[in-house]
Amino acid sequence: MRIFVCGGAGFIGSNFIRYILGKHKNVQILNYDALTYSGNLNNLKDIEKDKRHRFIKGNIADKETVDLVFQKFKPDYVINFAAETHVDRSIHIGAKEFIDTNITGVFNILEAVKARSGVKKYVQVSTDEVYGSLPLNSKNTFKEDTAFAPNVPYAATKAGGDMFCRAYYNTFKTPVIVTHCSNNYGPYQYPEKLIPFFILRMLENKKLPLYGDGKNVRDWIYVLDHCEALRLCLFKGKPGEVYNIGADNEMSNLEIASLILNHFNRDKSWMEFVTDRPGHDRRYAIDSRKIRKELGWKPKHQFKKVFTETIHWYLKNEDWINNVREKTGVFNPHIDLWEGHKMKK
Ligand code: NAD
Ligand code: DAU
Repeated sequence: MRIFVCGGAGFIGSNFIRYILGKHKNVQILNYDALTYSGNLNNLKDIEKDKRHRFIKGNIADKETVDLVFQKFKPDYVINFAAETHVDRSIHIGAKEFIDTNITGVFNILEAVKARSGVKKYVQVSTDEVYGSLPLNSKNTFKEDTAFAPNVPYAATKAGGDMFCRAYYNTFKTPVIVTHCSNNYGPYQYPEKLIPFFILRMLENKKLPLYGDGKNVRDWIYVLDHCEALRLCLFKGKPGEVYNIGADNEMSNLEIASLILNHFNRDKSWMEFVTDRPGHDRRYAIDSRKIRKELGWKPKHQFKKVFTETIHWYLKNEDWINNVREKTGVFNPHIDLWEGHKMKK
């Protein structure tokens, strides 16, 4: 079983590779990643001696290299995690790289899959952000047929990639599946994202900056529950289908901040309300009944337990944090601007 994984050096991709190697003996993985600011081979250090995993540095926006790797590796399955993923960067730094990777990159993968009849399935890992925002005081959720309504440049580019997948299935029967997952947490997440960013702020004795009133809601899922859902989509999912993935775990940013403060024995004075993110989606909530019913998936991890384990992971992995800090320096452009720092790319 030969799996071509794009973006396998990032947060979810590296967790997925480790998870698949643990679940399947007879597997060959080719990990193709450009190693941008969020890609990090340290995320795969514990499996570097496993011969079933090979790494190639490459960009999905580079069509020639993608084609060449496809011809040589001859994958049975393809899964794409490679993306520009941070909303604040798409707002404060610009969307050009988001367009190159999240749209052109997906187009290149689709073309390569279309040209190679041996590919059984291609899973395009996407996001619930393509559906836009839900009101706080409602029971509405995102379903697979909810209309796209992206509100920030990041989400618009992910929606563009998803649209190409839909078009390639309908036009060419390219065997592609698109997944829309909610916010992930767990080990190896680049500390620009809410949970690891707040943990690092605690370690630096800095306040936790909440955008706006802090009441925005996200539907949190443990990264390994997402990985299992993706594994099922890859091996059991139906080409042309869309699957929404979520753990029914809506929490406000204020609640997440309180849990982290609690862990570090700090009171609410460590919260700071800062300028809101432009285009800030109010609430995400996923209806995942389809994947539960059709592929037999359900989240297995209990939030309180794995949330605490996640905090411990960052506390225990100081070297990983120092390495990430040395490599990139700036974690959160929104807060950097707000605190009056100079922007660095
Ligand atoms: P991440 O930023 O941690 O990792 C992205 C990886 O892609 C990095 O290793 C990076 O080097 C690589 N990459 C970027 N541009 C590339 C290019 N042009 N060519 C090759 N490699 C490139 O992101 P993540 O949080 O692991 O997200 C993975 C996927 O899951 C993304 O598609 C994202 O949209 C989606 N997603 C993420 C979440 C979340 O909460 N993190 C939720 C739902 C969906
Ligand atoms: O929903 C899935 C999406 O989740 C993924 O597609 C994205 O790749 C991923 O980045 C994530 O997007 P969010 O914008 O929801 O995640 P982020 O961690 O940036 O922010 C989560 C919430 O916390 C959001 O409401 C903004 C808020 N926030 C974030 C940071 C970093 C703060 O209030 N303060 C902060 O410092």
